[in-house]
Amino acid sequence: MRSPVCVFAALTLLGAHAQAQTATGTHNFPILVNSTSTLTLAVSPVCGSLDSANFSEINTGVDLGAMKTLVTFGDSWTSTGSNGTIPLPPILHPPLPSAGAANSENRRASNGYIWSERLAADFNAKLLDYSWGGAIINNYAYNTTTPLNATGVQRSDFVAQAALFFLQGKYLDALVPKNTVYAVAFGINDDGQYKIGNRRKYYAGHGNLCELNSIQAVHELTRPEIQKLAELQAAGAQNFLIHGMYETHPEITPLQSAVFAYLAAQHASNPAINFAFVNLANMFGAIAANPAPFGYLGNATCLVSANTIVGGCDDPDHSVFYIPGHPSMETHGLINQYTQTVVNECLVS
Ligand SMILES: *[C@@H]1O[C@H](CO)[C@@H](O)[C@H](O)[C@H]1NC(C)=O
Ligand SMILES: *[C@@H]1O[C@H](CO)[C@@H](O)[C@H](O)[C@H]1NC(C)=O
Ligand SMILES: *[C@@H]1O[C@H](CO)[C@@H](O)[C@H](O)[C@H]1NC(C)=O
Ligand SMILES: *[C@@H]1O[C@H](CO)[C@@H](O)[C@H](O)[C@H]1NC(C)=O
Ligand SMILES: *[C@@H]1O[C@H](CO)[C@@H](O)[C@H](O)[C@H]1NC(C)=O
Ligand SMILES: *[C@@H]1O[C@H](CO)[C@@H](O)[C@H](O)[C@H]1NC(C)=O
Repeated sequence: MRSPVCVFAALTLLGAHAQAQTATGTHNFPILVNSTSTLTLAVSPVCGSLDSANFSEINTGVDLGAMKTLVTFGDSWTSTGSNGTIPLPPILHPPLPSAGAANSENRRASNGYIWSERLAADFNAKLLDYSWGGAIINNYAYNTTTPLNATGVQRSDFVAQAALFFLQGKYLDALVPKNTVYAVAFGINDDGQYKIGNRRKYYAGHGNLCELNSIQAVHELTRPEIQKLAELQAAGAQNFLIHGMYETHPEITPLQSAVFAYLAAQHASNPAINFAFVNLANMFGAIAANPAPFGYLGNATCLVSANTIVGGCDDPDHSVFYIPGHPSMETHGLINQYTQTVVNECLVS
């Protein structure tokens, strides 16, 4: 009997030369966001430097003022339910807790507009959202996800989201490199699948079950994320906005540091490549430690379940989370403010 062959590909970084895009989509679909906030951003970023050993909060030159298009990849913290199209306005349909279409999956895991819609609206940019709830970086990284389907839960991943973007993004907007920002936010569900998979029980690449040590396991998470960033660069992407996970987890920290190191190296070799790294754990750590200065009242989470608003609180505007594990509409407003604060205050030359 042959034992499975485990192949660990080296990190292959595609050359990152920006190509001008020729598509000229010009449609604007403005959305009106009620930006009145019941909360206060009572935390400051912890700005780091480009040569920091681990990830830190930074902006090498992403210019939100020049942003005309915001393209987003990620999970339920970023998903508007639009899957590669322009988001529809959020509408709550009680007792459904997710704002969006009543009878489809096109919903947000919140009670209103989420951070990316607010960010796009603040700069009059068009939002193209490829994020989807439950998404991980790479479905082949675990024996709990499709295509091996041990848990029977189909998940979106960065690989599929990027594939859809490469197929149709260029028809939806001009994607002028200096006017387009690519937001990437993964980690929450990777942490979850990693834990279900008993840690270090990963499928490496092609379906062979291999027991990986922790360095190999992080590598298997990091490789596809960096590969997708490089493919985006090869397609013209110059500006990246990375959201670090809102909690600190030992498996996700080295992933985030590897992504940071990759983008720092890209910026060093081509100053036109810029990135901002926002560590949501700074903001959510400060909220957890002392919620009152932010304006939060009562329990951190409003709803008792993701499936109904029945039995939930009547004051979501002062709750950190609306659905368990998912920010309230007002907290999404703070995420947007915090993101812009990092971009403005953590600028390195
Ligand atoms: C905007 O949001 C604030 C805070 O939630 C709320 O008090 C106000 O009524 C809202 N305004 C509109 C026009 O919806
Ligand atoms: C970087 O992260 C590693 C492991 O995650 C940790 O051991 C090390 O102390 C960190 N270095 C700095 C400078 O924070
Ligand atoms: C998003 O759209 C693509 C293309 O239509 C489809 O293949 C994919 O399954 C969709 N993803 C979700 C999560 O619905
Ligand atoms: C994943 O693989 C490990 C190692 O063989 C096994 O213990 C675990 O049960 C598998 N998980 C699933 C959901 O199949
Ligand atoms: C994985 O499980 C889902 C949900 O049970 C099912 O719809 C899908 O067909 C399965 N996919 C494969 C490749 O078995
Ligand atoms: C907090 O949540 C608990 C458990 O769901 C509930 O019993 C309690 O009434 C809640 N308190 C407030 C102030 O909402």
